[in-house]
Formats: sequence, C-alpha cells, structure tokens
Amino acid sequence: LTAELHERDFEQLVLCRDPEVGLESVIAVHDTTLGPSLGGVRMRRYPSRAAAVADAMNLAQAMTYKAALAGLPLGGGKSVINADPRVANRDEVLIAHAKYIAALNGRYVPALDMGTSVRDLELIGRHVPVVCAQRGDPSYYTARGVVRSIEVALEACGRSVAGSRVAIQGLGNVGLHVARMLCAAEAEVLAADIDPVRVHDAVDELGVTATDLADILFVDVDVVAPCAAGGAIDEHAVPRLRASALVGAANNMLSTPALARDLRERGIVHVPDFVANAGGLIAVEAELRDDESGLADRVDAIADTARDMLNRSELGGIDVVSVALSMATEIIEGNRKYRPWF
Ligand code: NAI
Repeated sequence: LTAELHERDFEQLVLCRDPEVGLESVIAVHDTTLGPSLGGVRMRRYPSRAAAVADAMNLAQAMTYKAALAGLPLGGGKSVINADPRVANRDEVLIAHAKYIAALNGRYVPALDMGTSVRDLELIGRHVPVVCAQRGDPSYYTARGVVRSIEVALEACGRSVAGSRVAIQGLGNVGLHVARMLCAAEAEVLAADIDPVRVHDAVDELGVTATDLADILFVDVDVVAPCAAGGAIDEHAVPRLRASALVGAANNMLSTPALARDLRERGIVHVPDFVANAGGLIAVEAELRDDESGLADRVDAIADTARDMLNRSELGGIDVVSVALSMATEIIEGNRKYRPWF
C-alpha cells in the first residue's frame, strides 16, 4: 500500500476503525495543491477492505483531475464507509466517520455521494470544520456538461445533435436530464435502466425508445452515454461498441484508463468522464462560495476543454485520457510552488 501511495502521488490515506459502532472507513486525500480536497462520502458494502481502499483512491484521484481541468481551486479527495447504507446504527457510524474527517482539519471537505443523503451530510457537518451540504441538486449541471461534451464529440464526427442517435445507460438524476436536453435538441434517444419505472416514465415524458439492458451499450448509434455505475466499459465491451463516440457521466466509466488507447485504435471519439461530468463539481464549488454568478457559462466552457483535448489527441496521436491527465498535471505542477490555500 505504501508503494502504491508513492507511485500514485497520494498525499494521505487514512484507514479508520471504530469497533464500538462498527465503523470501517477510508479517507483518501490525493492532492491539495490547488485547494482543499473535496469529494463525496460514499457508503456501500464492499466485497473486501482492499476493494474499499481501491475505490476511495481511484475516485479521489479522478477528483483531483476533474477540479484542475475545470479550473477550480480544489484538490481531490474521497471517503468511503464500508457498510450497508441500511445499517441499523447509521447515524453513529456517520458520526464516527465525521470525527476522523474532523481530525484532518479541513484538508478533506465531505460532499454527497452514492449511499449518502443531504441529511447525512448535515449530520457530518455538525462535527467537521467545512462540509458541502448541497442545498441544490448538482445533477442538472452535471448533465449540462455531459451534453456539451456530446455536442463536441459529434462535431468531431462531423455531425450535430439534431438527428443524431444517442443511447443512454441509466435514467437516474443525471441520465434523465441528459435525455431531456437531447430530446429538446431533436436527437433520437434510446435508453435503458434496471428500474423499469424510470424507463416507462421517460418513454411517457420524452418519447425515448426503451432498449434492452444487455444491448444499450452496443446498439448502432452515434453516441453511447453511460450514466449509471462506473466500470461499464471494460476490455470485453470495447470491441463490441458500435457507436462513433463514447461520452457519459459515470465516474471511472472505463474499467482501466488504458482502454482509452483501444478506443482510439477503434476510431471511437471519447471525452473522459472527469472532463464531461465536471458540471456538478463546478456547481458545488459555486455553492460552497455562495456565488452562483455565471455558473451555466462556466459549465458550458467544458466544451472548450473537451474540444482542446480532442484536438491535442488527434494532432499528437495520443489517446485522450493521457492527454487529459497531462493537461491536469501541468496545471497542478504549475501551482505546486505557490500552494495557494496552505
Ligand atoms: P443515480 O443513482 O440517480 O442514477 C443511476 C441510474 O442508473 C439509476 O436509475 C439506476 O437504476 C441505473 N442503473 C444502475 N445500474 C444500471 C445498469 N447496469 N444498467 C442500466 N441502468 C442502471 O445516479 P446519478 O446521480 O444519476 O449518477 C450517475 C453516474 O454519474 C454515477 O456514476 C455518478 O457517480 C456519476 N456522477 C454523478 C454526478 C451528479 O451530479 N449526480 C456528478 C458526477 C458524476
């Protein structure tokens, strides 16, 4: 683990336990060069302790790149509580976790994530110096950035949204907004969700085409947009993709970043998730500062970043995830000696 921390340039990893209440959690602070590390508190039962640590680290690292590329004064962090969200003494577990966060003295700012609610964040907020309690739902802005990125990807394929076919996996908070915006822009939307009610409602409201869960990623469309769980695109999925572009909201959508090379070889235009889905983080940061002026424009600027990245990838013959990582690293390294917030 120590070797991995060094190899991946992690600043800090806190493994927390409180046997009295049954807490087992991880706080991963990847990089605080640009600002305090902000990231969600995820609550789920992992198959192993190692899986919990790996998830926290992967997600924290992605937050660093997401914040840097979105031009935000934030670092990357994440915490995970290895417990079933329905655990009977949930509040006690959350408070025990909050006390570990408090010991970091603001280096990690907790926010909402899978398995936690606004109420949970309010509870954590009573014990930590800064919390992102998120009065508003950032999903609209996440979806807005995803749609801007889809537009750029289609542009790279010589197409526009009107008349294009887009397949959306997952009609949750983000996926439904994406579907609404695309339908309003006259795209043809195909969609699937493990929850049949969500599909039924979207068919009723928007006239999307309900598609089989097993087929949604592999249908013959212009864009596939994974908006459900991470890891949806693995080494078995890449050869089966028939879309010209892959752009979605799901965090860590590629099971490994190396798959970006395979996508490039197959000629599939890809906008990395940590670029396309940064709209939510931009909205959360604005809320934290209590200044939402120009928010929509700042989210729409994701299109400029995505376009720049695709151009560099094309010109340099390098996959777009490598391009994105080197752009993010350049921003972070350029600030390292100033460390504005320390
Ligand atoms: P959500 O939980 O509201 O929606 C996920 C949807 O996917 C649910 O409707 C669920 O039934 C469905 N689903 C799960 N597994 C599926 C499968 N195998 N096939 C089809 N549908 C499936 O989550 P939300 O907030 O919409 O987030 C979606 C993704 O975007 C997640 O990966 C999340 O980490 C990421 N994300 C979300 C942000 C936000 O602002 N909500 C910000 C950045 C990333």
